Amino acid sequence: MFGPVKIAPSILSADFMNMERDVELITEGGAGYVHVDVMDGHFVPNLTIGVPFVQGLKRVSRLPLDVHLMISNPLTQLPWYLEHVGAGDLVTVHVEALDLAADEAWRAIELIHEAGAGAGLVLKPDTEADVVAPYLPQLEMVLAMSVYPGFSGQSYIEGTEGKVARLVELSREAGVAPLLEVDGGIGLATAGRVAAAGADVLVCGNAVMKAEDPQAAIRDITAAAEAAREEA
Ligand code: DX5
Ligand code: ZN
Repeated sequence: MFGPVKIAPSILSADFMNMERDVELITEGGAGYVHVDVMDGHFVPNLTIGVPFVQGLKRVSRLPLDVHLMISNPLTQLPWYLEHVGAGDLVTVHVEALDLAADEAWRAIELIHEAGAGAGLVLKPDTEADVVAPYLPQLEMVLAMSVYPGFSGQSYIEGTEGKVARLVELSREAGVAPLLEVDGGIGLATAGRVAAAGADVLVCGNAVMKAEDPQAAIRDITAAAEAAREEA
């Protein structure tokens, strides 16, 4: 009843001194997207990469980018990132960083679309799925965080699959089908649960990039997700 599951390896867990090699490795290994964790040291405690790095990734990647912006003041900074993405890429912004009452989510979605990319809203673990309901018809993706954003290598927060199921329900009510993505602590043990609930894109940091054989990890996690989805 759902479409195919795609893996989006997070390059935060890759080797920063061999990034082009690692991007090529996951591309050849069957990944669907390159997940790009932008952290500003303010919205989240960690500081990772910024605009020039996204620009460089775009130059070397044959896969679409899935740019996860964990930044404060996204409306100020979005245009800088949007210069370097285009058709097929996805850019996701946290609802917690936007003033929803001041229509900032609408504006962010509009800016992303003007750049030709797909727009997504991200929910931290404590933010209710229903917050994104009004925006669903305009979204290409909703990302449910399954860890508190800031670091790779954390454990999956139990129950996130319930939020995914709620997002499926809300999307059906709205008559739309944005991609549903889950991010944090996803690997062989957890992929099946979120895929069965309806997740289409699984972000995998450590489970892929720190695996002995990242390409085998992509294959195995995809297979586990697909098998669980068929049973669902
Ligand atoms: C967390 C990031 C995640 C993280 C995933 O804030 O958004 O994308 O890098 O890493 P793992 O899969 O190791 O939890
Ligand atoms: Zn992420």
